[in-house]
Amino acid sequence: MSEEVVLLDMSNGIATITINRPDKYNALNSEVVTKIREFMQKAEEDEAIRVVVLTGVGEKAFASGADINEFKGRDSKSVRPRVERGQELCTYMESMSKPTIAAINGYALGGGCEFAMACDIRYASSNARLGQPEILLGIIPGYGGTVRLPRHVGLGRAKEMVFTGDQISAEEAHRIGLVNRVFETVDDLRAGVDELAAKLVKKPGVAIKLAKQSLNGAWSMSLEDNLVFEIDAFCETFDTEDKDIGVEAFLSKGKPEFKHK
Ligand code: COA
Repeated sequence: MSEEVVLLDMSNGIATITINRPDKYNALNSEVVTKIREFMQKAEEDEAIRVVVLTGVGEKAFASGADINEFKGRDSKSVRPRVERGQELCTYMESMSKPTIAAINGYALGGGCEFAMACDIRYASSNARLGQPEILLGIIPGYGGTVRLPRHVGLGRAKEMVFTGDQISAEEAHRIGLVNRVFETVDDLRAGVDELAAKLVKKPGVAIKLAKQSLNGAWSMSLEDNLVFEIDAFCETFDTEDKDIGVEAFLSKGKPEFKHK
C-alpha cells in the first residue's frame, strides 16, 4: 500500500481522488485535507478531466471525519484555521465546474459526511453508515454539516442527526435522500460509479457547468434571481459549439461528440 495519504488517478476524463489512511478509517488529518484540495484544483484546471470522484480506500470507510488526534490541546483560536480549510474545501468542491461524485464505501462520519454532501451525487455501498457524530465529542460539525444537511434532508431530520450523533444506514440515507443510490457491495459501488462517471464524461462540459451553477442556485439565490440566472445560462449554451453538435446529431439521428466548447 502506498504511503501517500491521498491518491490521485486521472484517466479517461475522470479524476479519482482516494483517501488512503485505511488503518485510521480514512480520518481527515490536515495533510489529507490539503491534498484533497490540491487534487480537486488540479482536476478542475485540467481540461481533459470532465468528472471527479471522491472515495476512500478499502471496504470500511469513505472517511471517518476529522482526525480527532488533531483536536487535543486546541482552543477556539488554534482550531479556526483548520476548520476554515475544511469548510473552504467543501465550498470549492461545490463550486467546481465539473460534476463530483462521492463513492461512499463505508463510514462517512463528520467531515466525511460533509465532504460527501459537498459533492454533486452520492452513491453508497450497503455497508455505508453516515452521520454527524461531533456532538458526542462535545463539539458541532464545522465543514458545513449544519448548513448542508438540512438542505439535503430537511431541518427536522438534520436536527435529529446532529443532536443525537447517531449514525444512519445506507438504506436510511437513501430513503431520506442523502444518497442517490445504494449498491450491495463495495465492488458493485465502484462499478456503478464507473458507469455514471463514464456517462457524464460524454456530456457537454459548458452545459454541465451552467446547469450545475443554476441548480446550486436553489440553495444560494432567491427564486427570482435563480430564474434570471437560468435564462442567461440557457442563452449562453446557444453560443456554444456543443449546442450545434447536439442539435445536429439529433436531427440527423447521429450521436453527438461534444467538444466542451
Ligand atoms: N480520528 C482519528 N482516528 C480515528 C478516527 C478519527 N475520526 N476514526 C477512527 N479512527 C481510528 C481509531 O482511533 C482506531 O485507531 P487505532 O487502531 O490506532 O486505535 C482506528 O481508526 C479504527 O477505529 P476503531 O474505533 O477501533 O474501529 P471501530 O470499527 O470500532 O469504529 C468508527 C469505527 C469509525 C465508528 C469509530 O472509529 C468512530 O466512531 N470514529 C470517530 C468518528 C467521529 O467522531 N468523527 C467525527 C470527528 S469530528
